[in-house]
Amino acid sequence: MPHVLVIGSANVDFTVGVPRLPQEGETVLGGALHASHGGKGANQAVAARRLGAEVRFVVCLGRDAHGDLIAEQLMGEGIPADGLIRVEETATGVALIAVDAEGRNQIAVAPGANLRLVPELAGRHAPLVAWAHVLLCQLEVPIPTVHWALATAREHAALTILNPAPAQALPDTLLSLVDCLTPNASEATLLSGITVKGPETATEAAQRLLDRGVRRTLITLGPQGVLFCDGTAALHFPAFPVQAVDTTGAGDAFNSGLAVGLAAGGTWEEAIPLANAAAALACTKRGAQTSLPSRAEVETFLRRLKS
Ligand code: RIB
Repeated sequence: MPHVLVIGSANVDFTVGVPRLPQEGETVLGGALHASHGGKGANQAVAARRLGAEVRFVVCLGRDAHGDLIAEQLMGEGIPADGLIRVEETATGVALIAVDAEGRNQIAVAPGANLRLVPELAGRHAPLVAWAHVLLCQLEVPIPTVHWALATAREHAALTILNPAPAQALPDTLLSLVDCLTPNASEATLLSGITVKGPETATEAAQRLLDRGVRRTLITLGPQGVLFCDGTAALHFPAFPVQAVDTTGAGDAFNSGLAVGLAAGGTWEEAIPLANAAAALACTKRGAQTSLPSRAEVETFLRRLKS
């Protein structure tokens, strides 16, 4: 079975549907409030599990009611508790999310306990890095922890995937530990200095990111698909068309599809369609973890596309 280790965040998501996303200083009236499980790390861990991997997840949760709910949910998904760290005197992470009528979102995160995941604490789980075929990280936990995780995975020859979300500047020393960087257009723009608008500009940005040290880039372009670049080839994979109701968690589903496909020994050409299908299906349901598909759902979807 593929082994995927996720080191990252968990949040409780409070989501409201709105007719359109608010402008700066604007209040928009929306519908009912929905509370659900989220956080990029937790979403990616749950998505990888549902796609068929054995998953370990290193995360900091507060010792509060939200932390209890998240721990219970993760274990219910079949993710062992050995990486779940409970911290005192800091609340579990929370995200406030607005989703418009076309499924686009705006997210503000109160990271809380996620910022307590410092390298000293994550380092106690180093044996999990040795266990992993693929390490998957994001940027909702302290950057030194991401750096430690990537460097340790390199020592153990695990494949490293960094989803650089939420967007922030990163040093070349960290990027050079990344086997595959998976930014969206705005993250690729920030990290490369090249404004990414579609496959052509994504190819230029990808080359720039390779120059900065990453081994491969996979830039996600929403309905325009994804652009894979490894320095010898630039391949464009079109997106699978779906009626999007909520794109929250779609990027997380994509990263997990990629991680599971590669951890199972698949090629990039095999793993990327799996990732694309998981992301497409995640757009068709509301919420983050509520929308993440099972392996069977992804395979049925891919079969229907072929027939
Ligand atoms: O990627 C989606 C996630 O971003 C949400 O679940 C929210 O918690 C934020 O972390």
